[in-house]
Amino acid sequence: MPQLTIPKIQKMKADGEKIAVVTCYDASFARLVDEAVDVVLVGDSLGMVIQGHDSTLPVTVNDMIYHSAAVARGLTHPLLVTDMPFMSYQAEFGAALKAAGQVLKKGKAQSVKVEGGEEVTELVYRMSRVGIPVMGHIGLEPQKIHRYGGFKIQGKAPEDEKHLIKQAKALQEAGVWSIVLEGIPMELAKKITETLKIPTIGIASGPHCDGQVLVLYDLLGMNPDFNPRFLKKYAELGKLVPKAIKTYVTEVKKGSFPNEAHSFKRQEAASRKKAT
Ligand code: KIV
Repeated sequence: MPQLTIPKIQKMKADGEKIAVVTCYDASFARLVDEAVDVVLVGDSLGMVIQGHDSTLPVTVNDMIYHSAAVARGLTHPLLVTDMPFMSYQAEFGAALKAAGQVLKKGKAQSVKVEGGEEVTELVYRMSRVGIPVMGHIGLEPQKIHRYGGFKIQGKAPEDEKHLIKQAKALQEAGVWSIVLEGIPMELAKKITETLKIPTIGIASGPHCDGQVLVLYDLLGMNPDFNPRFLKKYAELGKLVPKAIKTYVTEVKKGSFPNEAHSFKRQEAASRKKAT
């Protein structure tokens, strides 16, 4: 299968083909999602689902590079986008450009993603101009949870709606090649999607975006207690994995695993050595 590129993903919007995106954080899962999805996002959600923090704020550029490089080793087909973590791009243009450059050089990403509207347009322009493609992210921006007071749906009031449409247009103008719309009413997501030439990728924003992204561990049902309305679980690994582990432990304690079928005999080992 040919490697997907930004122009090819953008053409999917023009052709009316939905764009399927999942997050991923390691090479093993990357190999499992490789064939099916169009875009893989190494999200700073790894701060929560991998590192166990209660927000994405503690994640560092080195964390993102480490996981991005691991994912890249497992992919052959989808486009790889990697998040810029909190305060790696908000303070200074020079530092932001250098960090994003490292995410492409060492993390092997084909694009970075940054959260924010007009406050990041100058940065988006500078990055795009030097060859660092940028995906935008507006609506519920998890790096701003302290300002919101939690993970809350955005854009419900008419003035917020106007503001978000303005942000989306400003980002497109600045040069983002696509925008994640997170946690906004479906009518607003539809309006933004119809207004923009570039693709929108929704999460918790209804069915009218050009594509959809979910956190891989959420769609696989890794956490049985995480059941927000926007989430559909396509597996129940949070139930399956403890069951498998319990069976393994029971068999080890009973002495039924390992048995002869999972063991090597002196005779076999010797003949294998001779053959090599
Ligand atoms: O960090 C992340 O996983 C994300 C997606 C949920 C869009 O930003």
